[in-house]
Amino acid sequence: MAAHLRLVNVVKRFGAAVAVDGVSLEIEEGCFFTLLGPSGCGKTTLLRVVAGFHTPDAGDVFLRDRRITHLPPHARGTAMVFQEYALFPHMTVAENVGYGLRMRRVPPARARDRVARVLELVGLLGHEAKYPHQLSGGQQQRVALARALVVEPEVLLLDEPLSNLDAKLRLRVRDELRELQRRLGQTTVYVTHDQEEALALSDRVAVLNHGRVLQVGTPEDVYRNPASRFVAEFVGLANFVPAEVVAPGRVRAGGVELHVDGLQGASGRRVVLAVRPEEVRVRQEPVDGKPNVLRGRVRSATFLGAVRRVTVEAAGLVWIVDVRADEPLAPQAEVSLELPAERLRVVEEERTDDQRGGGRS
Ligand SMILES: Nc1ncnc2c1ncn2[C@@H]1O[C@H](COP(=O)(O)OP(=O)(O)OP(=O)(O)O)[C@@H](O)[C@H]1O
Ligand SMILES: [Mg+2]
Repeated sequence: MAAHLRLVNVVKRFGAAVAVDGVSLEIEEGCFFTLLGPSGCGKTTLLRVVAGFHTPDAGDVFLRDRRITHLPPHARGTAMVFQEYALFPHMTVAENVGYGLRMRRVPPARARDRVARVLELVGLLGHEAKYPHQLSGGQQQRVALARALVVEPEVLLLDEPLSNLDAKLRLRVRDELRELQRRLGQTTVYVTHDQEEALALSDRVAVLNHGRVLQVGTPEDVYRNPASRFVAEFVGLANFVPAEVVAPGRVRAGGVELHVDGLQGASGRRVVLAVRPEEVRVRQEPVDGKPNVLRGRVRSATFLGAVRRVTVEAAGLVWIVDVRADEPLAPQAEVSLELPAERLRVVEEERTDDQRGGGRS
């Protein structure tokens, strides 16, 4: 199937700075697609190129087979929700939502119907006559969403639309947004720097850094099989273990030998392995005769509600491990760490002799 939205080698520079550095992406119809990356990595710039607010220096944007690279925003079939909502303060909710329809010269009677329909969709019926300052943050966010949906865009573009909401409201609006997107089958490109949001919302995630796409995949794929150290570190928490390959499937790390499923390569090769805090198993009793078990000592234990996050010193490294919150692990406790061979993955060929390792906090 042809992609609904396709970016081909898009480059956008500001002076000498390259904000988007050769991005190619294919987004299927009905997909909730997220651009995830740290501040300044080019997410907004890329979204603006798609929306038509920036002209790329190179590359193209296609909607189905139509090249839209140089069309003005209103002629593309896209609609963008800006991070700061950008509602018109002097217009009512109904006027804000109907604005795009007036611009497109939709007859007033039909426009009124469509405004009413999207206001119902986003749960704002009854608020038509209010002004933005009379609404809560979450309601304003939904007005901004309604204003984009009302023009029935082929592709909806959302730039960090939840970042102004408090934690609780953010979760609720996030779920509503996902539910609405599914119900409408609305192709959506969503921008966030929040990895949890990206994992929770998306069908597919593209991880960006320095204007480049580092990895594209389902949330599980990106989380379980990060293609690089940056992705492993940015999407979730990971322990990084510098190691040396001693044979296919085996490495030496911190003075012990570990089995690593699927590991290829010549012995002597230096690599960095990653393992997630919840993938490491902790036991209080010694475990004998099993591979990939390290004896260690708990350094700290932090109660986080659903889990207890402990740091453990073992094999000369410091490990971050998540255990059940009711697990009675206190500092100084002696424990065994079991590292599943199928969960250790190579995320980097080591470039330095830096032998510090273990987790990042
Ligand atoms: N209009 C502009 N003029 C000059 N430089 C710009 C402009 N817009 C963005 N940049 C630069 O391009 C780079 C990418 O910016 P962009 O806004 O796309 O990042 P972002 O990923 O959206 O970041 P954030 O998460 O902070 O919103 C940054 O270095 C930024 O300073
Ligand atoms: Mg931005």
